[in-house]
Amino acid sequence: MYIFVWGVCMLKIGNVSIEKTAALAPMASVADRAYRTICKEFGACYVVGEMVSAKGLCFSPDKALDLITVTEKERPMAVQLFGGEPEYFEKALPKVLEFKPDIIDINMGCPVPKVTKNNSGCMLMKDPKLAEQIAKSVVKNSSVPVTVKIRKGWDNDSLNAVDFAKRMQDCGVSALTIHGRTKADMYSNKADWNIIAQVKKSLNIPVIANGDIISPETAKDMYDFTGADLIMVGRGSFGRPWLFKQISTYLKTGKYEEDPTVAERMEIMKKHIALICEDKGEQVGMKQARAHAIRYLYGIRDAAKYRERCSRLTSFEELLTLIDDILKNQN
Ligand SMILES: Cc1cc2nc3c(=O)[nH]c(=O)nc-3n(C[C@H](O)[C@H](O)[C@H](O)COP(=O)(O)O)c2cc1C
Repeated sequence: MYIFVWGVCMLKIGNVSIEKTAALAPMASVADRAYRTICKEFGACYVVGEMVSAKGLCFSPDKALDLITVTEKERPMAVQLFGGEPEYFEKALPKVLEFKPDIIDINMGCPVPKVTKNNSGCMLMKDPKLAEQIAKSVVKNSSVPVTVKIRKGWDNDSLNAVDFAKRMQDCGVSALTIHGRTKADMYSNKADWNIIAQVKKSLNIPVIANGDIISPETAKDMYDFTGADLIMVGRGSFGRPWLFKQISTYLKTGKYEEDPTVAERMEIMKKHIALICEDKGEQVGMKQARAHAIRYLYGIRDAAKYRERCSRLTSFEELLTLIDDILKNQN
């Protein structure tokens, strides 16, 4: 499962080598190409794209092309599919494989009603037979390793992560990610790391642990507590892509660099937002950049005032003026 290259521990998922540090979680409408790229630059060892509908890919592939495009800078990267009908996965796969993802991930954990109502996302944990059909069909038709991302179960009365994960392993998937919450939890309550440890103990394939990693210390704790083969960070990276570097350094040395200064943070934000605009055009890009900009302001002086300005940004020029004003005010 592991190989060492120049002393660096690499996890193998199928034929894909991934450094055993911290991966970026799939996050629809947040972890787009710009976000993945900046996290990758800060050392995220693996990234998963925003979920894309297998059915949508069959009916209007052009709309989803952006979501299945993989650039060299993002590798190793998984494209994540969701859906409730094996035939749509089968039909969508050749289109996805044209873009040469390193891995195909199947979303069996999304709690959002828009997704679960179509037998997709976490609803598949309630219907393991259908989940097996989907996993088997994707494994059979994919030329790259297939992974599955699950939750702890649907709700506290149906905590079936261990049994479900074993079924997925039996279908031939190459790794499994588990987020330690139920569908009913959505994002509330603490993620249950015990269930992640149980899943890890029960499987032979690599297990990726996810939920509430927000610092280098919690990253190490997750590895130690669960014995997971890899850890995955979602919300903890909001406005802090440097967290990946801190985690990686901490895992190797037991120490990590402090957070960047405000000036450095503003440079990182500028670079991130420039990437969004490059990818999506300035008009669309700046609208999407607003939420990201707000997250970079955490803890700075007069943040509330600047947050309000972030929420009205319409051009890159305005962002530069905002950054100038912020920096003048920090000394
Ligand atoms: C805004 C947002 C979008 C998400 N989109 C996806 C998605 O597309 N696919 C998926 O499997 N999980 C998705 N998730 C769940 C995350 O991948 C992750 O499992 C969850 O946030 C828990 O990890 P964390 O505590 O590190 O944030 C999303 C989460 C958030 C907050």
